[in-house]
Amino acid sequence: MANDTDIASLEKALLSEIDSASDLDAIERLRISTLGKKGRVSELMARLGTLPSEQRKAFGQSVNQLKERVTEALEARKSQLSRDAMSARVASEWADVTLPVRLGPLQDGRIHPISQVWDEIVEIFGDMGFSVAEGPDIESDDLNFTKLNIPPEHPARQDHDTFYFKPKADGSRLLLRTHTSPVQIRTMLSQKPPIRIIVPGRVYRIDSDATHTPMFHQVEGLVIDEHTHLGHLKWCLEEFCKAFFEVPDLKMRFRASHFPFTEPSMEVDLDASAIGKPGQWLEILGSGMVHPNVIRNCGLDPEKYQGFAFGMGLDRITMLKYGIPDLRDMFSADLRWLKHFGFLPLDVPTLAGGLSS
Ligand code: PHE
Repeated sequence: MANDTDIASLEKALLSEIDSASDLDAIERLRISTLGKKGRVSELMARLGTLPSEQRKAFGQSVNQLKERVTEALEARKSQLSRDAMSARVASEWADVTLPVRLGPLQDGRIHPISQVWDEIVEIFGDMGFSVAEGPDIESDDLNFTKLNIPPEHPARQDHDTFYFKPKADGSRLLLRTHTSPVQIRTMLSQKPPIRIIVPGRVYRIDSDATHTPMFHQVEGLVIDEHTHLGHLKWCLEEFCKAFFEVPDLKMRFRASHFPFTEPSMEVDLDASAIGKPGQWLEILGSGMVHPNVIRNCGLDPEKYQGFAFGMGLDRITMLKYGIPDLRDMFSADLRWLKHFGFLPLDVPTLAGGLSS
């Protein structure tokens, strides 16, 4: 039979257990084993019914007081342990705010000047109503040459030092396209005039020295409708150059030339004094009115349709605009070069915001 002495010694034992509980889990286990349904304090309460009625009141009071004191002790220990846990966390989780800021990927990465200029070109021609077309780097002989009015055995084939694949069983050969002009053909074969496209892309020639790399970039332009003439071509290229080099005026020289797929043909030189190189003419593109044979090869009537085409060296104008001295550095994947000449990823060129500012 429990009496006051039992209660007092139980209280002593419980308080010392509570005092030495080392974490919040231990406190919870103690709460359950004392105040829970089958806990030691609750069990005392259960004995109340077995006592003679004159003892019940006093015993009940004692057990209730015990319960209160144990509850208080549990709460006190629990909040003490929570405070200790928080202090430990605060002591271990801290940041030295005096350290320099670490750059995130957005500030660290750079956009290659070719990619940037690619976007600038799309922006400028897009504003003039051109859309962007694409074709594969691996092209057929037919589209790269024949349909462009360069039949087999034509001497112009020798001008392009072509990377050929092994001939197929039927004798036809695939090649790495030597210019973006086959996309003229692909577009005229698949789209009805009016056509107004530009084609930025990679092209390949067996050529490697200080000013040539085996892979380089071109932008093709093609306009086909019923009215477009040479004046439109000149206007279009002049507007492009002014917008691209971000100058109000710029002298250009149109030199008679020859391409099998245009007639007449012109090469275009820039007066480089506008971009800080006085006294120099720099060749930047080939162009002309699309040859009637090419229009016919694409199933269109050259009596009805006409237009112009141009092919521009993208790497060339990138070097001119951004003062890049050596073509080969552009493809050497040197991170220091890219850090110097590259662009921040969020510097997206727009006409409204300024192309390169
Ligand atoms: N395809 C020609 C070249 O690579 C450029 C060009 C394109 C010329 C379109 C005229 C018209 O040299």
